[in-house]
Amino acid sequence: MTLSIISLPGAEACTGLLARKLNANRCGLESRRFPDGEIYLRVADDVRGHDVVVVAQLREPDAQVPGMLFLADALRELGAGRVGLVAPYLPYMRQDARFRPGEAVTSRSFGKLVSSAFDWLVTVDPHLHRHKVLDEVYRIPAAAVPSAPAIAAWVHQRVARPVIVGPDEESRQWVAEVADLAGCAHTVLRKLRHGDREIELVLPDLQALEGHTPVLVDDIISSAHTMAGAVRKLGAAGLAPAACVGVHAVFAADAAALLQAAGAATVVSCNTLPHPSNAIDVTGAIAEAVRAQGEALSRSGS
Ligand code: R5P
Repeated sequence: MTLSIISLPGAEACTGLLARKLNANRCGLESRRFPDGEIYLRVADDVRGHDVVVVAQLREPDAQVPGMLFLADALRELGAGRVGLVAPYLPYMRQDARFRPGEAVTSRSFGKLVSSAFDWLVTVDPHLHRHKVLDEVYRIPAAAVPSAPAIAAWVHQRVARPVIVGPDEESRQWVAEVADLAGCAHTVLRKLRHGDREIELVLPDLQALEGHTPVLVDDIISSAHTMAGAVRKLGAAGLAPAACVGVHAVFAADAAALLQAAGAATVVSCNTLPHPSNAIDVTGAIAEAVRAQGEALSRSGS
């Protein structure tokens, strides 16, 4: 079966890298906004009988999700076979419980939407906290690609005497894996969240880390208040300026400036969302996961 790959607006760089790694046909997409803001889409190449990979950049999901769903629907109407989604950054994973009566659990709702439109999903390190695996919210085959090997390789090449530090307990899962692969120690801070932008961080015992370069690793840098707070805490405790690694460079508004002002030695991210900080390429691992999805579905005859 021919494999085609199509980029939603903003995912062109990632799509280009994946097309080469998967040896897939690039399928064109015309896209623009009508004057009222509604999206216009036109699939520019023939996809009849092709399996199609849709690559979506979802930094602003509320504006981008309708186009993603409409494209999946259009591809099916145009005769595509399986339609899979590569969303390197998977949004709507953080509201994973009803914290106050009446709240929408948007992780579940978003999972239902995506599962109704696509045959499979590949993403990178989704924010799995109260949901332990993607299968809890996605009823299509869903693969979570780990960024830890690529981050560990970056740390190994770029940082002398590193120690990996997570800004909160939730980050321990990534931090421990990166440290293990990079062959160094790790620790995590404790985060108390008082609001979207108000957090309090508590340091662990840092004696064992003296003389090392802290490498802060978190899955998401959004407002950067978490990362900046951690940089300041570590600096105040006498450690060397921290290198900051974010898997997903969401970077809202003044986030980059905030991190710089906090004293970060360097700020890098994986290329799951396009951003000037992208320095760690995870498309090799994404391509492997896409191949595995196709093979598994072929074996199961679906
Ligand atoms: C939180 O649970 C995540 O793992 C990140 O720590 C958080 O999303 C970072 O957000 P911000 O950059 O807005 O502090």
